[in-house]
Amino acid sequence: MKIGILGGTFNPIHIGHINAALSAKKQLQLDEVLIMPSGDPPHKAVNGHITKNARFEMTRRAVEPYEKEGLHFSDFEYSFSGDTYSYIILHELKKSRPDDELWFIIGEDSLLTFQHWVKPDIITKYVNLAVLPRKDEGTKRALSKKELEDKASEVAGQFQTKVSVIDSELFDVSSSFLREELSKRQFNDGFSDALKNNIPSGALSYIKERRLYEEIRLTGPKDHFEFEDARKKIKKSLSKKRYQHSLRVSDTAVALAARYSYPAFPARVAGLLHDCAKDIPEKEYFSILKENKVDITEAERKAPYLLHAKVGAIIAKKEFGIIDADILSSIRTHTTGEPDMSLLQKIIFTADYIEPGRDKAKRLDEIRELAFSDLDICVREILFDTLSYLDETKSDIDPATRETYEFYRDKLRREF
Ligand SMILES: [Fe+2]
Ligand SMILES: [Fe+2]
Repeated sequence: MKIGILGGTFNPIHIGHINAALSAKKQLQLDEVLIMPSGDPPHKAVNGHITKNARFEMTRRAVEPYEKEGLHFSDFEYSFSGDTYSYIILHELKKSRPDDELWFIIGEDSLLTFQHWVKPDIITKYVNLAVLPRKDEGTKRALSKKELEDKASEVAGQFQTKVSVIDSELFDVSSSFLREELSKRQFNDGFSDALKNNIPSGALSYIKERRLYEEIRLTGPKDHFEFEDARKKIKKSLSKKRYQHSLRVSDTAVALAARYSYPAFPARVAGLLHDCAKDIPEKEYFSILKENKVDITEAERKAPYLLHAKVGAIIAKKEFGIIDADILSSIRTHTTGEPDMSLLQKIIFTADYIEPGRDKAKRLDEIRELAFSDLDICVREILFDTLSYLDETKSDIDPATRETYEFYRDKLRREF
């Protein structure tokens, strides 16, 4: 088989990478192209504090929809330690696929410096080179077509290998521009058009879920959130028992955040604030919700304690200055959940159920284990047990709980 290899840090992966792989595949009639994120490369600092795992997962999700078109995510480099040179990776790759013809896809800039790479003669023993021209042909930064062809022949001659220039100009998106654009986001709001147009949707939803590249600020431009101030305020407004429960939910949320690569601070704050409205008299809920034009469901009217979640989101915003979308929705949904929750929503929903002070629910040990192995399954099981309990005790069931359960039940079934 003829196989292309497109390596890179993919920090983040963008449409230019996908198009480059597709063009190389078409022009060289490759059977498939492996999209292979690098470990942490020796010659290049990885920007944006993005972990290797996050780059891998982002890339995997971006490439998944292109499987049918012959692009495959490859974790081949994953098993190598941080500073592995290309010649070692390509040597190992060739060993694992001795009968395949390998084409290493590189950018024009890399071709220009190819002679100065570590062991270019070894690299070309195992692979041919496919070169992608720069978009800005003929400018100071880029060679003309003729110059590029000449350089390709020179390298081909020197190293006795095939060097093909790909007829496409696709390297016009820059990861550094996208990183900057991503870091401008706040409060985990939406994405700009530049981001939506240039980052494959699978990668984008992962970036949103894990809040990658984002400079995390929880409150508005003038406010600054101090955890200690908020803790003291919460201590005053809750009963001792409830306050201690809130601290434990906060700690549990931080542990889950670490497990699922979510930033710790918003998880800590959401845990602390999740029950901030719990000790407000129930009759005040109705006026607060009315004032803020929030609808009340039939189930909530029957069981007003459920409303402490919705009211909590309002209090967190108005009295604690939180405008972070993720935190507010995780407070709003912490009792019943809702279909298709964000990672933080699931973390808070779960932390509230499993925090170490809890001892009433059945099979808590199993649920606690699940929380750290598969959060979606854990959420489904918590909802299942909650529904069974409400059913056994002949209590009213909030349709939101059932809807959330059904969503996760169906979602997981589809994925199996
Ligand atoms: Fe609660
Ligand atoms: Fe709670």
